[in-house]
Amino acid sequence: MSFTEEIKKRRTFGIISHPDAGKTTLTEKLLLYGGAIQEAGAVKSNKIKKSATSDFMEIERQRGISVATSVLAFSYNGTKINILDTPGHKDFAEDTFRTLTAVDSVIVVIDVAKGVEEQTEKLVEVCRMRNIPMIVFVNKLDREGKDAFDLLDEVEQKLNLKVTPLSFPIGMGYDFKGIYNIFEKNVNLFTSQSKQHKGETIAIQDVNDTNLDTLVGASAASTLRENLELVEGVYPPFSREAYLNGEMQPVLFGSALTNFGVRELLDCFVQIAPPPRPKRAEERDVQPSESNFSGFVFKIHANMDPKHRDRLAFVKIVSGTFERNKPYLHVRLQKKLKFSSPNAFFAEKKEIVDTSYPGDIVGLHDTGNFKIGDTLTEGEQLHYKGIPSFSPEHFRYINNADPMKAKQLFKGIDQLMDEGVAQLFTLEINGRKIIGTVGALQYEVIQYRLEHEYGAKCSYENFAAYKACWIDESKAKADELSEFKRVKQKFLAKDKTNQLVFLADSHFSLQMAQQKYPSIVFRFTSEVVE
Ligand code: G4P
Repeated sequence: MSFTEEIKKRRTFGIISHPDAGKTTLTEKLLLYGGAIQEAGAVKSNKIKKSATSDFMEIERQRGISVATSVLAFSYNGTKINILDTPGHKDFAEDTFRTLTAVDSVIVVIDVAKGVEEQTEKLVEVCRMRNIPMIVFVNKLDREGKDAFDLLDEVEQKLNLKVTPLSFPIGMGYDFKGIYNIFEKNVNLFTSQSKQHKGETIAIQDVNDTNLDTLVGASAASTLRENLELVEGVYPPFSREAYLNGEMQPVLFGSALTNFGVRELLDCFVQIAPPPRPKRAEERDVQPSESNFSGFVFKIHANMDPKHRDRLAFVKIVSGTFERNKPYLHVRLQKKLKFSSPNAFFAEKKEIVDTSYPGDIVGLHDTGNFKIGDTLTEGEQLHYKGIPSFSPEHFRYINNADPMKAKQLFKGIDQLMDEGVAQLFTLEINGRKIIGTVGALQYEVIQYRLEHEYGAKCSYENFAAYKACWIDESKAKADELSEFKRVKQKFLAKDKTNQLVFLADSHFSLQMAQQKYPSIVFRFTSEVVE
């Protein structure tokens, strides 16, 4: 197969949802269709259950599982599909944000009864900012839920999307009869509650066909006709171009648990979802079809064995082919590196591969060379953009609890921060170190890992901050900046890249600072998202 064909057949995407909307169930059903697994229940969720909050072993065990399920690859009708797993637990949201820099499209799963939930809003916003093509899958149609039109309205309003349904449910919950596929113009009848639904798909060229009345009953058929008329009147026809530009989001309905509407979703996805897209580097846009290899690290995972502190760096291939044992330039370190055992990922296992193509993810064994966001090339000085840090929600001082192990502690903190477990800020005024995290769970993970992997002990102390705001010193007026620095010196810190950060103690104090120093821009991410 030619290089161009290899690129064309790849689809790399992520599934995002609020916890419990059905992401894991859907992933599993997709894998079943791809023949990548044989039975339901084979994919272990990478989600960290709420009950695991203080169970370290459970966290560790699940971290292990999440390595295996970080990338789930399978083939379907000649297409190579890479699903990048995104943790659903909100304490690991930052991981998910970063993974979204490596996907070419996403599927958003929404629970028909719960509608748009908080975590979905946040994740969709990140995708919207990056114009990532999105397909919305409304799940759990086998249960009572919201009216389809109300739900479509909610999706448009809360998520700020422009939707167009590609399928439409016939009834719901107890009265759920099936789904009319607007995209394929056929009806899929819901005939059983079985978990392995293999319902028949009946082609209906025209919704006015009286066969429909026989199939679903006269009343349901007439409601469907009315609904479809309304759909046609209200929603714009599907445009692939608009979808690819992130300007229109097709919606499909189904039930992952009963495996209903999943094949339709997959078929539609394979047809419309984009192959690997070009990516912007600081220097230029890079096309997948370029012959020279380039890629970037979007995730780093510590290995399970605490005796070998090696890690797996996940690299998304943007252009060219990645080859085993070929030297590549690590741009930040200006160092050539060779990889003798790059891993490729399949449903639940990983294997050493010789060649990988754009859209693929390779896992590289690393002993501390990589940070999230690093670029690898064949020699070109490229820096891929777009892995910002978001403002943490929690802040705590970290103290050394074992003075004999200071070196180990600093090394551990350094490496955990490179992995993106949390963010480190150093206070300007006294050099004390503050760890910022998205969720409280990370503090326990850090403490546990410092002790078990680095032999260091730490304790925490509260630091009252509301948000971290990054400040671009070069853009502010000099007098305003120096006055601000003098007044707020207690709240100023540097992040790991030496950028100035204002750790605002309250919403009010941030507002006051914004009013008082209008030339200073306070950003909630470490980098401008384009
Ligand atoms: P998540 O990864 O998004 O967090 O969700 P997950 O797939 O784990 O699904 C959350 C719960 O919703 C699970 O039930 C799952 O069985 C159920 N579910 C998923 N899809 C559907 C669907 O289409 N219809 C119905 N009725 N339920 C669905 P649970 O009881 O929390 O877990 P489990 O004991 O079934 O694993």
